This record gives sequence, C-alpha cells and structure tokens, in this order.
Amino acid sequence: METIIEDYGYDGEGVGKVNGKICFIPYVIKGEKVRFKIVKDKSKFCIGELVEILTKSPKRIEARCPYFAKCGGCSYQQISYEEEILIKEQLYKKQLAKVGFKGEINVFKSPSAYRYRNKLKLFVNGDKIGFKYRGTDKICTIDDCLICKDMIGKAIKPIQDFISGNNLFNCIELIVMRQEGNECLINFVLNKDRKINYQGLFLLLGQNYGIYQTYNNKSLHIYGIKYLKKYEFGLMCKFYPSSFHQVNEEVCQKLYQEILDSIVGSVINCYSGNGVLSAIISQQTSVTGVEIGEIEHQEAEELKNANKLINMINIKGDCAKVLPTLNGDTIIVDPPRAGLDKKVCEVISKKNCKRLIYVSCNSATLVRDVKLLNNYRIEKVYLFDMFARTGEYECMIIFNNDKNI
Ligand SMILES: C[S@@+](CC[C@H](N)C(=O)[O-])C[C@H]1O[C@@H](n2cnc3c(N)ncnc32)[C@H](O)[C@@H]1O
Repeated sequence: METIIEDYGYDGEGVGKVNGKICFIPYVIKGEKVRFKIVKDKSKFCIGELVEILTKSPKRIEARCPYFAKCGGCSYQQISYEEEILIKEQLYKKQLAKVGFKGEINVFKSPSAYRYRNKLKLFVNGDKIGFKYRGTDKICTIDDCLICKDMIGKAIKPIQDFISGNNLFNCIELIVMRQEGNECLINFVLNKDRKINYQGLFLLLGQNYGIYQTYNNKSLHIYGIKYLKKYEFGLMCKFYPSSFHQVNEEVCQKLYQEILDSIVGSVINCYSGNGVLSAIISQQTSVTGVEIGEIEHQEAEELKNANKLINMINIKGDCAKVLPTLNGDTIIVDPPRAGLDKKVCEVISKKNCKRLIYVSCNSATLVRDVKLLNNYRIEKVYLFDMFARTGEYECMIIFNNDKNI
C-alpha cells in the first residue's frame, strides 16, 4: 500500500488514508509518502508497518538507537527532540479542545532526551531477554537502551549472559532495574521458587549494584546495596526496587515544584505512591496521602518517620472509598493510565474544594474525566515531557473552584 502521511495519531504514529480508510503507521513524519503493509485490518481503521519511505521529509534524522522502530519503546527518534515536543503539544491541544480548552499550554521539556530514565523492565520469553516488539509478546533482544541511565544500560548484557549461562529462562520472567546517582538495583522476578546463585553476576557488576529476587510478591535482598538514597527538596528518600517512582528525575522536580506553588490550604493527595510528593508538601502544609499499594504505603510511612514529618498522614486504601471521608482545601489526583474511577469524579465534584490538581500520564483519560468534574474551571494546563523520545508525556491541569476561592 502507499499513502501520504497527513497527521499524527495519539501515540505519535503517522496517519494516512487508503481508499478512504484511516491507517496508523508508526515511525513516519507528516508529509512523507510511504509504502507500508497492513498488519491489522479493522472495520474503521488499519495499522500499518513501514516498508519504504518514498518521499523523505527534510525533518527526518538518523535514529541514534539500533533498536529504534523494533523494540516498541521509543516513537520519535526519526525527528529532532524539538519537533517531538511540537507534535506532543499539538496532540495534547487536540485532546483539550474536546473540553473546550483553547488556552496556552505550559511546556516543560526534558533537559536530557537520552540517558534520563531511571527504571527499565526486561522481559524474558523463550530463550530471549529484552523488550517486547510493538503490540506483541515477542522479544526483541537488546544490549543497551539509550534512554535509560548508564548503569542500567551497562547491566543488560551481563544479565543476559547470566540467565543464558545458567539456563534460567524457565524460572525468571522479568527483570526490573532502577538507578539513582551512581547506584543501581536489579530485581529478578521469578515464576518458580528456585534457589539461584547470583554471586558471579554481583562480582561482575560491582559494589554499586544491589540484587533482589521476588517470588510470589515477596522480595528478598540478596547482594549489595539494599535501597537507593536520594535527597528530594531537602528530604532523605529511600527507593526500593518495586515501588512506583517517577522515571525522569529532572522533569519530576519541575512537576513537584509547580504543584507546591499551586496548592492552597490543607491537601488531600490521592494516588500518593511512595509518599515523596506528600512528604515535600508536608514541609509547607498538612497533607493526607491515599495509596492502595502495600509496598508504596510502607515506604511512605518509612519516609515520614525517618524525616519526622508531623504534617503528613498516610492512609492505605482505595481512593474511591477513602476520599469521601476526608476534608481538605486542595485535592491532588495522580491516577494510573486508566484515569479516575467515576465514583472518585463524583466525590471530587461534590467536595467543592478550593483547588484541584490533576496529574496524568494519559491525556485521553484525563479529558474523559474532566467532563465529569463539575464545579471546577481549568486555570492552568501543563505538559511535562517525562518520557522523552517515547509516545508518552505527563499532563497536569490546575482547576479552580470559582464558588470557593
Ligand atoms: C501514577 S502513580 C502516582 C504516584 C505519585 N503521585 C508520585 O508522584 O510518585 C499512581 C499510584 O496510584 C496507586 N493506585 C492505583 N489505584 C489506586 C486506588 N484505587 N486507590 C489508591 N491508590 C491507587 C498506585 O499503586 C500508584 O502508586
């Protein structure tokens, strides 16, 4: 098939048409004429795979990574980072138009477009270790990932050699790595209870690495460093391998600073993760965090106790159930990609608090939820490029409540 790319879809893939039917084709640029094959044919659209670029865009650049367009990670290495930001802003604007917002977006770029990511997941399937090809469970073997921090990248090959050398393909299903500063944790997630000797791998990687093993949701520290330490806004924070933490530190700091500058009065911090944001806020005002994850909740408690934060309360529970019982002037929500539960939207609408701050990594569910948030008026809109070179970005909307401010 041949088509001319007319626009971009929500994940940055090119949009063309064949016989009036929309085709989404990843890794192409607006204006390019391309040859492609259809890999998924639906009634209203199809998904294509690029075969050949017939007319190249002057904006096209050489991708830095040899796995680009294969591993399913990055979406934008065929264009400059500046272009990527413009596309993301346009896509976000299109979403916001659905709720009538036509104002300015405050854009925060990632200071580094490469080597910024502090977390990586490697999947094991058959005798392969790597990333999943876009839209499949098949593994694309990689020996580095250029958007990840260097210690993560350096550990990939030794981990692959360790698993294949010891024939551990049938018991390790996932490897999660996380780096802060010059320390890195590696967590091997097992699908069978098996005793594994990690000593050789640890000696090869060195003292700045730590090794964990997780089976049946129970994590065991095996060798090296136990946790990652980091000072955030003057607070000492510890990170373990499995809890949620934002992946781009520099952009995360900007996000947290904007939140700090926007809160009024007391705060309810919903979907509070490992409590870092609550801890930072508690230095300014009283805050109650609500988090469903057991590990994240424990980490938040540890953070509170280690830093003697008297203004911080951590509640373990489901926001849909806990939020109706709480009172505060500002509500912050930072849900997973699926967005807010309808019940949570209803409770927020009824609460009529002074300010609402909605942080989201999915502009589609954000906009869906905005339609349900009655009484709140959009005050300021942000795009934080937490995930440079990939199709994702972090959004934030600050809402005011005219009745209550
Ligand atoms: C995107 S993360 C937000 C983390 C945090 N705001 C931060 O900046 O580090 C979403 C968090 O919501 C938690 N979560 C998911 N569903 C939840 C629910 N129904 N109630 C409370 N927390 C939930 C997850 O465990 C995860 O830690």
